[in-house]
Amino acid sequence: MKGRIFSGIQPSGNLHLGNYLGAIRNWVRLQGDYEAIYCVVDLHAITVPQDPQTLRERTIEVAASFVAAGLDVEKTTIFAQSHVAAHPQLAWVFNCVTPLGWLNRMTQFKDKAGKKKDQAVAGLYTYPVLMAADILLYRATHVPVGEDQKQHVELARDIAGAFNRKYEQDFFPLPEPVIQEEAARIMSLRDGSRKMSSSDPSDQSRINMIDDADTIAQKIKRAKSDSEMGLSYDPESRPEASNLLQIYAALAEEPRSKVEAEFSETSFADFKARLSDLAVAKLEPITMEMRRLMDDRGEIEKILARGAAKAEAIASDNIAKVYDIVGFLPR
Ligand code: TYM
Repeated sequence: MKGRIFSGIQPSGNLHLGNYLGAIRNWVRLQGDYEAIYCVVDLHAITVPQDPQTLRERTIEVAASFVAAGLDVEKTTIFAQSHVAAHPQLAWVFNCVTPLGWLNRMTQFKDKAGKKKDQAVAGLYTYPVLMAADILLYRATHVPVGEDQKQHVELARDIAGAFNRKYEQDFFPLPEPVIQEEAARIMSLRDGSRKMSSSDPSDQSRINMIDDADTIAQKIKRAKSDSEMGLSYDPESRPEASNLLQIYAALAEEPRSKVEAEFSETSFADFKARLSDLAVAKLEPITMEMRRLMDDRGEIEKILARGAAKAEAIASDNIAKVYDIVGFLPR
């Protein structure tokens, strides 16, 4: 084993193609080489308003997607964050070693809080501290994520260093982000300058993991294009064409340059038809399996319960060590 992986996805909206290509698919690839722990981060989800019943359903959906995409429940640990109490416990300790200046630099907080900073909840602001706790509770060494999470993983490194220095220990490793270039940042189908996101109000902007074949085909057909003939990769001047090419290359698992050459003289309409066939062929088996699992909640609940027990075994040992290091009396 090359080390230990931790990564997570929020059950806070529609799981989409960006989550799959940017994260889940890489998790599947890495599961044999690393000891891997994958988490449905429900504590993170409540940093923005959630309907309780929908949150429960989305937690099941995200867990189902992990299994449907090919994560092996024997080899990996799959669990829900709220099932292991040591996550917020370690986050509190980290809150007490993290300078506010570090949190003020986080671009995601600025994006999400917008101009109404004073009305944003404290959890949204300290969210990266909880994320550092998620990773470091397992003393994970590698964190496979999309590009948008890189800054948070770097903060986790800084927090690990701050803790080690403050307590003169070499307790936490400095975790590294693992980002696959080919699908680091999948963009919206409606606007190639914005990332594909579950919080985009337009459902046409993304391909959801639960979309059926017709919906996928229709969304790709309506995806924004430009007036040039032939596809080319040039994110500055042709963001939409570049994004669709990148999605094609990532789904086909081919180098972008090869795909670019193949479609350099193809019209947008013909290219979209090819992309749509490819997307359906790759995603439909996963979607079908997700639906089957979501109808069999009992199976997912069992997987999560077993995962929580495995995660807990590591987490309770590490939090006890941390509590001892900081000077809390044993119970
Ligand atoms: P979240 O739930 O927003 O996204 C889950 C994963 O999907 C990736 N991703 C994308 N990749 C490429 N293109 C996109 N358009 C795209 N959109 C999302 C994200 O980079 C991420 O890898 N804070 C995290 C969850 C988290 C976490 C952690 C991750 C909590 N604790 C510990 C790693 C380790 C988040 O909100 O991801």
